[in-house]
Amino acid sequence: MTEVVIQSDADAAATAATLLADRITRDPELVLGLATGSSPLHLYRALAERVTRDGIPMDRLRAFALDEYAGLDPEHPQSYLSTIRREAVEPLGLDPERVHVPDGSLERLPTAGERYEEAIALAGGVDVQILGIGTDGHIGFNEPGSSLASRTRIKTLTAQTRRDNARFFDSPEQVPTHCVTQGIGTILAAGHLLLFASGAHKADAVARAVEGPVSAGCPASAIQLHPRVTVFVDEAAASRLEHADYYRAAYEAKPAWQGL
Ligand code: GLP
Repeated sequence: MTEVVIQSDADAAATAATLLADRITRDPELVLGLATGSSPLHLYRALAERVTRDGIPMDRLRAFALDEYAGLDPEHPQSYLSTIRREAVEPLGLDPERVHVPDGSLERLPTAGERYEEAIALAGGVDVQILGIGTDGHIGFNEPGSSLASRTRIKTLTAQTRRDNARFFDSPEQVPTHCVTQGIGTILAAGHLLLFASGAHKADAVARAVEGPVSAGCPASAIQLHPRVTVFVDEAAASRLEHADYYRAAYEAKPAWQGL
């Protein structure tokens, strides 16, 4: 089922942090799918607080990032390796040896996808996958037109994604043109998807992802094919959802046994 939770960023982060804290306490070897971008940052902070406060064991967790730029020095502050280390590995106290990011180095690019898929399979698959959504409807870096069955591979970034991400670089030209990203098929193989979106600029992509037709034109719409998805949106990002009132009512009336 897809559950849509309409909450402020802070409340959504607290709700999701509780869900993750419970899962990790029950299974300290959980395999967590990490996302970059601004959307999951509140969650990482809220979970880090829970880790400190409740002593949640994080050192045996394994984690896989969704994507990486191609040809960007891994030590560049905007590489997703650096970003994941800074925003998730350090604050959450993860073991860096157990955290994987696709290999974006140009020499090894041709086998990067296959190697990443093998590493995920060896870990037994991703249990909980954190996701953001691009304004063009991408998840990971699966741009419009991506195969809904795709696995980790090289992709070309759209002009819109490069514009959206230019804010992280000194100039728009510095944004890499290519990436290695988990495919939509890879993402759909995770046990539970948690998608975060906030702000009016995400409203259209969220509506297409949750209520639009399942289509490669909006890669995030593939979440409708997954049996267990929780979409956290703030009021602005929920503003174009036709059934927002129903989602609110369903969440408020949810029986305690149902959990998240
Ligand atoms: C980036 C990432 C995605 C992310 C998305 C939204 O380009 N590759 O994984 O979800 O775009 O980013 P933000 O959360 O900053 O809006």
